[in-house]
Amino acid sequence: CGIVGYAGPAPANAKPLEVCLQGLKRLEYRGYDSAGVALAAPGMDTVVFRKKAGRLDNLVKETQRSPMPDATVGIGHTRWATNGAPSDVNAHPHISQDGKIALIHNGIIENAAQLKFELQAEGYSFSSGTDTEVAAKLLGKIANQVIDETGTPDLFEALRRVSRMLSGAFTLLAVDVRQPDIVVGSRHDSPLVVGLGDGENFLGSDVAAFVAYTKNALELGQDEAVCISAGSVTVTDFDGNPVEAKPFTVDWDASASEKGGWDSFMDKEIHEDPEAVRNTLLGRVDLDGRLNLDELHIDENAFKSIDKIIVVACGTASYAGIVAKYAIEHWVRIPVEVELASEFRYRDPILTPRTLVVAISQSGETMDTLMALRHAREQGSKVLAICNTQGSSIPRESDAVLYTHAGPEIAVASTKAFLAQITAAYLLGLYLAQTKGTMYRDEIGNTLEALSQMPEKIQWVLDTQPQTIHDTARRMVDAHSFLFLGRHVGYPIALEGALKLKEIAYTFTEGFAAGELKHGPIALVDEGEPVVVIVPPARGRNILHAKVMSAIEEVQARGAFTIAVAEEGDEDVAQKADVVFWRPECPTLMSPLVDVVPLQLFAMDMAMLKHYDVDKPRNLAKSVTVE
Ligand code: G6P
Repeated sequence: CGIVGYAGPAPANAKPLEVCLQGLKRLEYRGYDSAGVALAAPGMDTVVFRKKAGRLDNLVKETQRSPMPDATVGIGHTRWATNGAPSDVNAHPHISQDGKIALIHNGIIENAAQLKFELQAEGYSFSSGTDTEVAAKLLGKIANQVIDETGTPDLFEALRRVSRMLSGAFTLLAVDVRQPDIVVGSRHDSPLVVGLGDGENFLGSDVAAFVAYTKNALELGQDEAVCISAGSVTVTDFDGNPVEAKPFTVDWDASASEKGGWDSFMDKEIHEDPEAVRNTLLGRVDLDGRLNLDELHIDENAFKSIDKIIVVACGTASYAGIVAKYAIEHWVRIPVEVELASEFRYRDPILTPRTLVVAISQSGETMDTLMALRHAREQGSKVLAICNTQGSSIPRESDAVLYTHAGPEIAVASTKAFLAQITAAYLLGLYLAQTKGTMYRDEIGNTLEALSQMPEKIQWVLDTQPQTIHDTARRMVDAHSFLFLGRHVGYPIALEGALKLKEIAYTFTEGFAAGELKHGPIALVDEGEPVVVIVPPARGRNILHAKVMSAIEEVQARGAFTIAVAEEGDEDVAQKADVVFWRPECPTLMSPLVDVVPLQLFAMDMAMLKHYDVDKPRNLAKSVTVE
């Protein structure tokens, strides 16, 4: 879910509503089942709110149909349903029994049923099926217990008390008409950042919520609560002890999270693939060609002693991890395991102080990945995050961070962040090789040189291949299923190509290691079945090339329609495959950075031809903050 909060000066005006709707627009990628906003101002008897099922537009229309009054503070929410179906009544905000307080929530409250039972016994009634309404009613009750002689409750203290009573994951924001100058918030296992304005302050699930207004931000830690007014920000722990929050500056412009003339964010972001790689390399290679990752703040001896890497990640990020495994094992000669974060801590993994756990996450908030890294740290391993979002939980809780500088990624299906993740993981691998001395200096230099040439090669794909890709998508638009095959680093690219098509074109796809074809998947191949094959370079009589070519022949013999991704000038492929998406020549380990690009474009074209919303595919959310 996406959360925004705003506190501005009196007198009441239209800005709280404007900031909330603006913020929600930028946060919509975090969930789009329903949306709502609540406002408070001096003189109001009860909070004013509007909420609507469906996209944010429905809420915007509702606020036009039934205009909201001027206000001093506001909160807004865009929902990805976890608890209670998406509907008007289940949408946030939820309101206290007396109507004085509005509350929004991201996460899952695990003891909601018990709390609801207790509240019902006391005469509280409930209209929705959500855990959030329980928190709202509870906050209403507690606020009335911390009230002063003028009838004003201490909302900040009430929220802290409620936060101590809840289990599960939550970010909560609340406003109260009796204190119409503040917004209070708290977080436990869900994200919340503060935006520092000039005579106004902001809260958001991430900085996108307020980047149009300020770039100065504060990170909030686990189990912290915050109270903002127009002129102050107070951070405490749940017991009320003051906490010093860490400031940071947002390193991208509001315009970076706007479509800027593109049809969709996905289209824009795919076209930013070259930039994502370039910016992730920037400033990390010294003039003398040595890698400089001082930003990691891990001492060299600790790095030297690492004898195993475990990558934990979900979805696309986990495929970047598999690509990295092939490269890092080759360069550093230590074992690299890649584990789906959701499986990791439940299987009692073997972790020692010499294991480096690498958590890869675009958002930095994926709960499965966060839980995996916490488990690793509890077991005494060091955790390094490869992450794209400043101020998010995963880097904050890791021992070291290597940021991918892909810029904000808004489309739900990940594209440019994937390339940036591979680039960052490669930098890490080469840095380990440099530290441990497993590669000659020249070799490292040459590899960095090859890496630095990739943005141009990606650009070549973007410039020359779209027509073929589009024509192929038109031809294939009615296909019911696709198989994707690859070997070596082509294997994770096959998985990623399959995932993209699944996510946004709702087509049944499977990605396989090409060698596994004969052990089962080939039974699926029938007349006309589209099979996408990632072909490794043919140079130097690459044995893998020959094996992948056999896979093409095997599926063609059973009637498959083959779409190859192959290196320019590969005559074998030109003759055999039905369609080829070409990539420029590059070393095998660099090929994932180009091979994935036509597959991103292909998935987007397929989804557009089917008239689907490529940026907001059904049922998905960009940042899944529940386990
Ligand atoms: C969600 C998204 C995926 C993404 C995954 C990991 O499931 O739909 O596209 O790959 O989360 O996200 P992260 O932010 O951790 O990279």
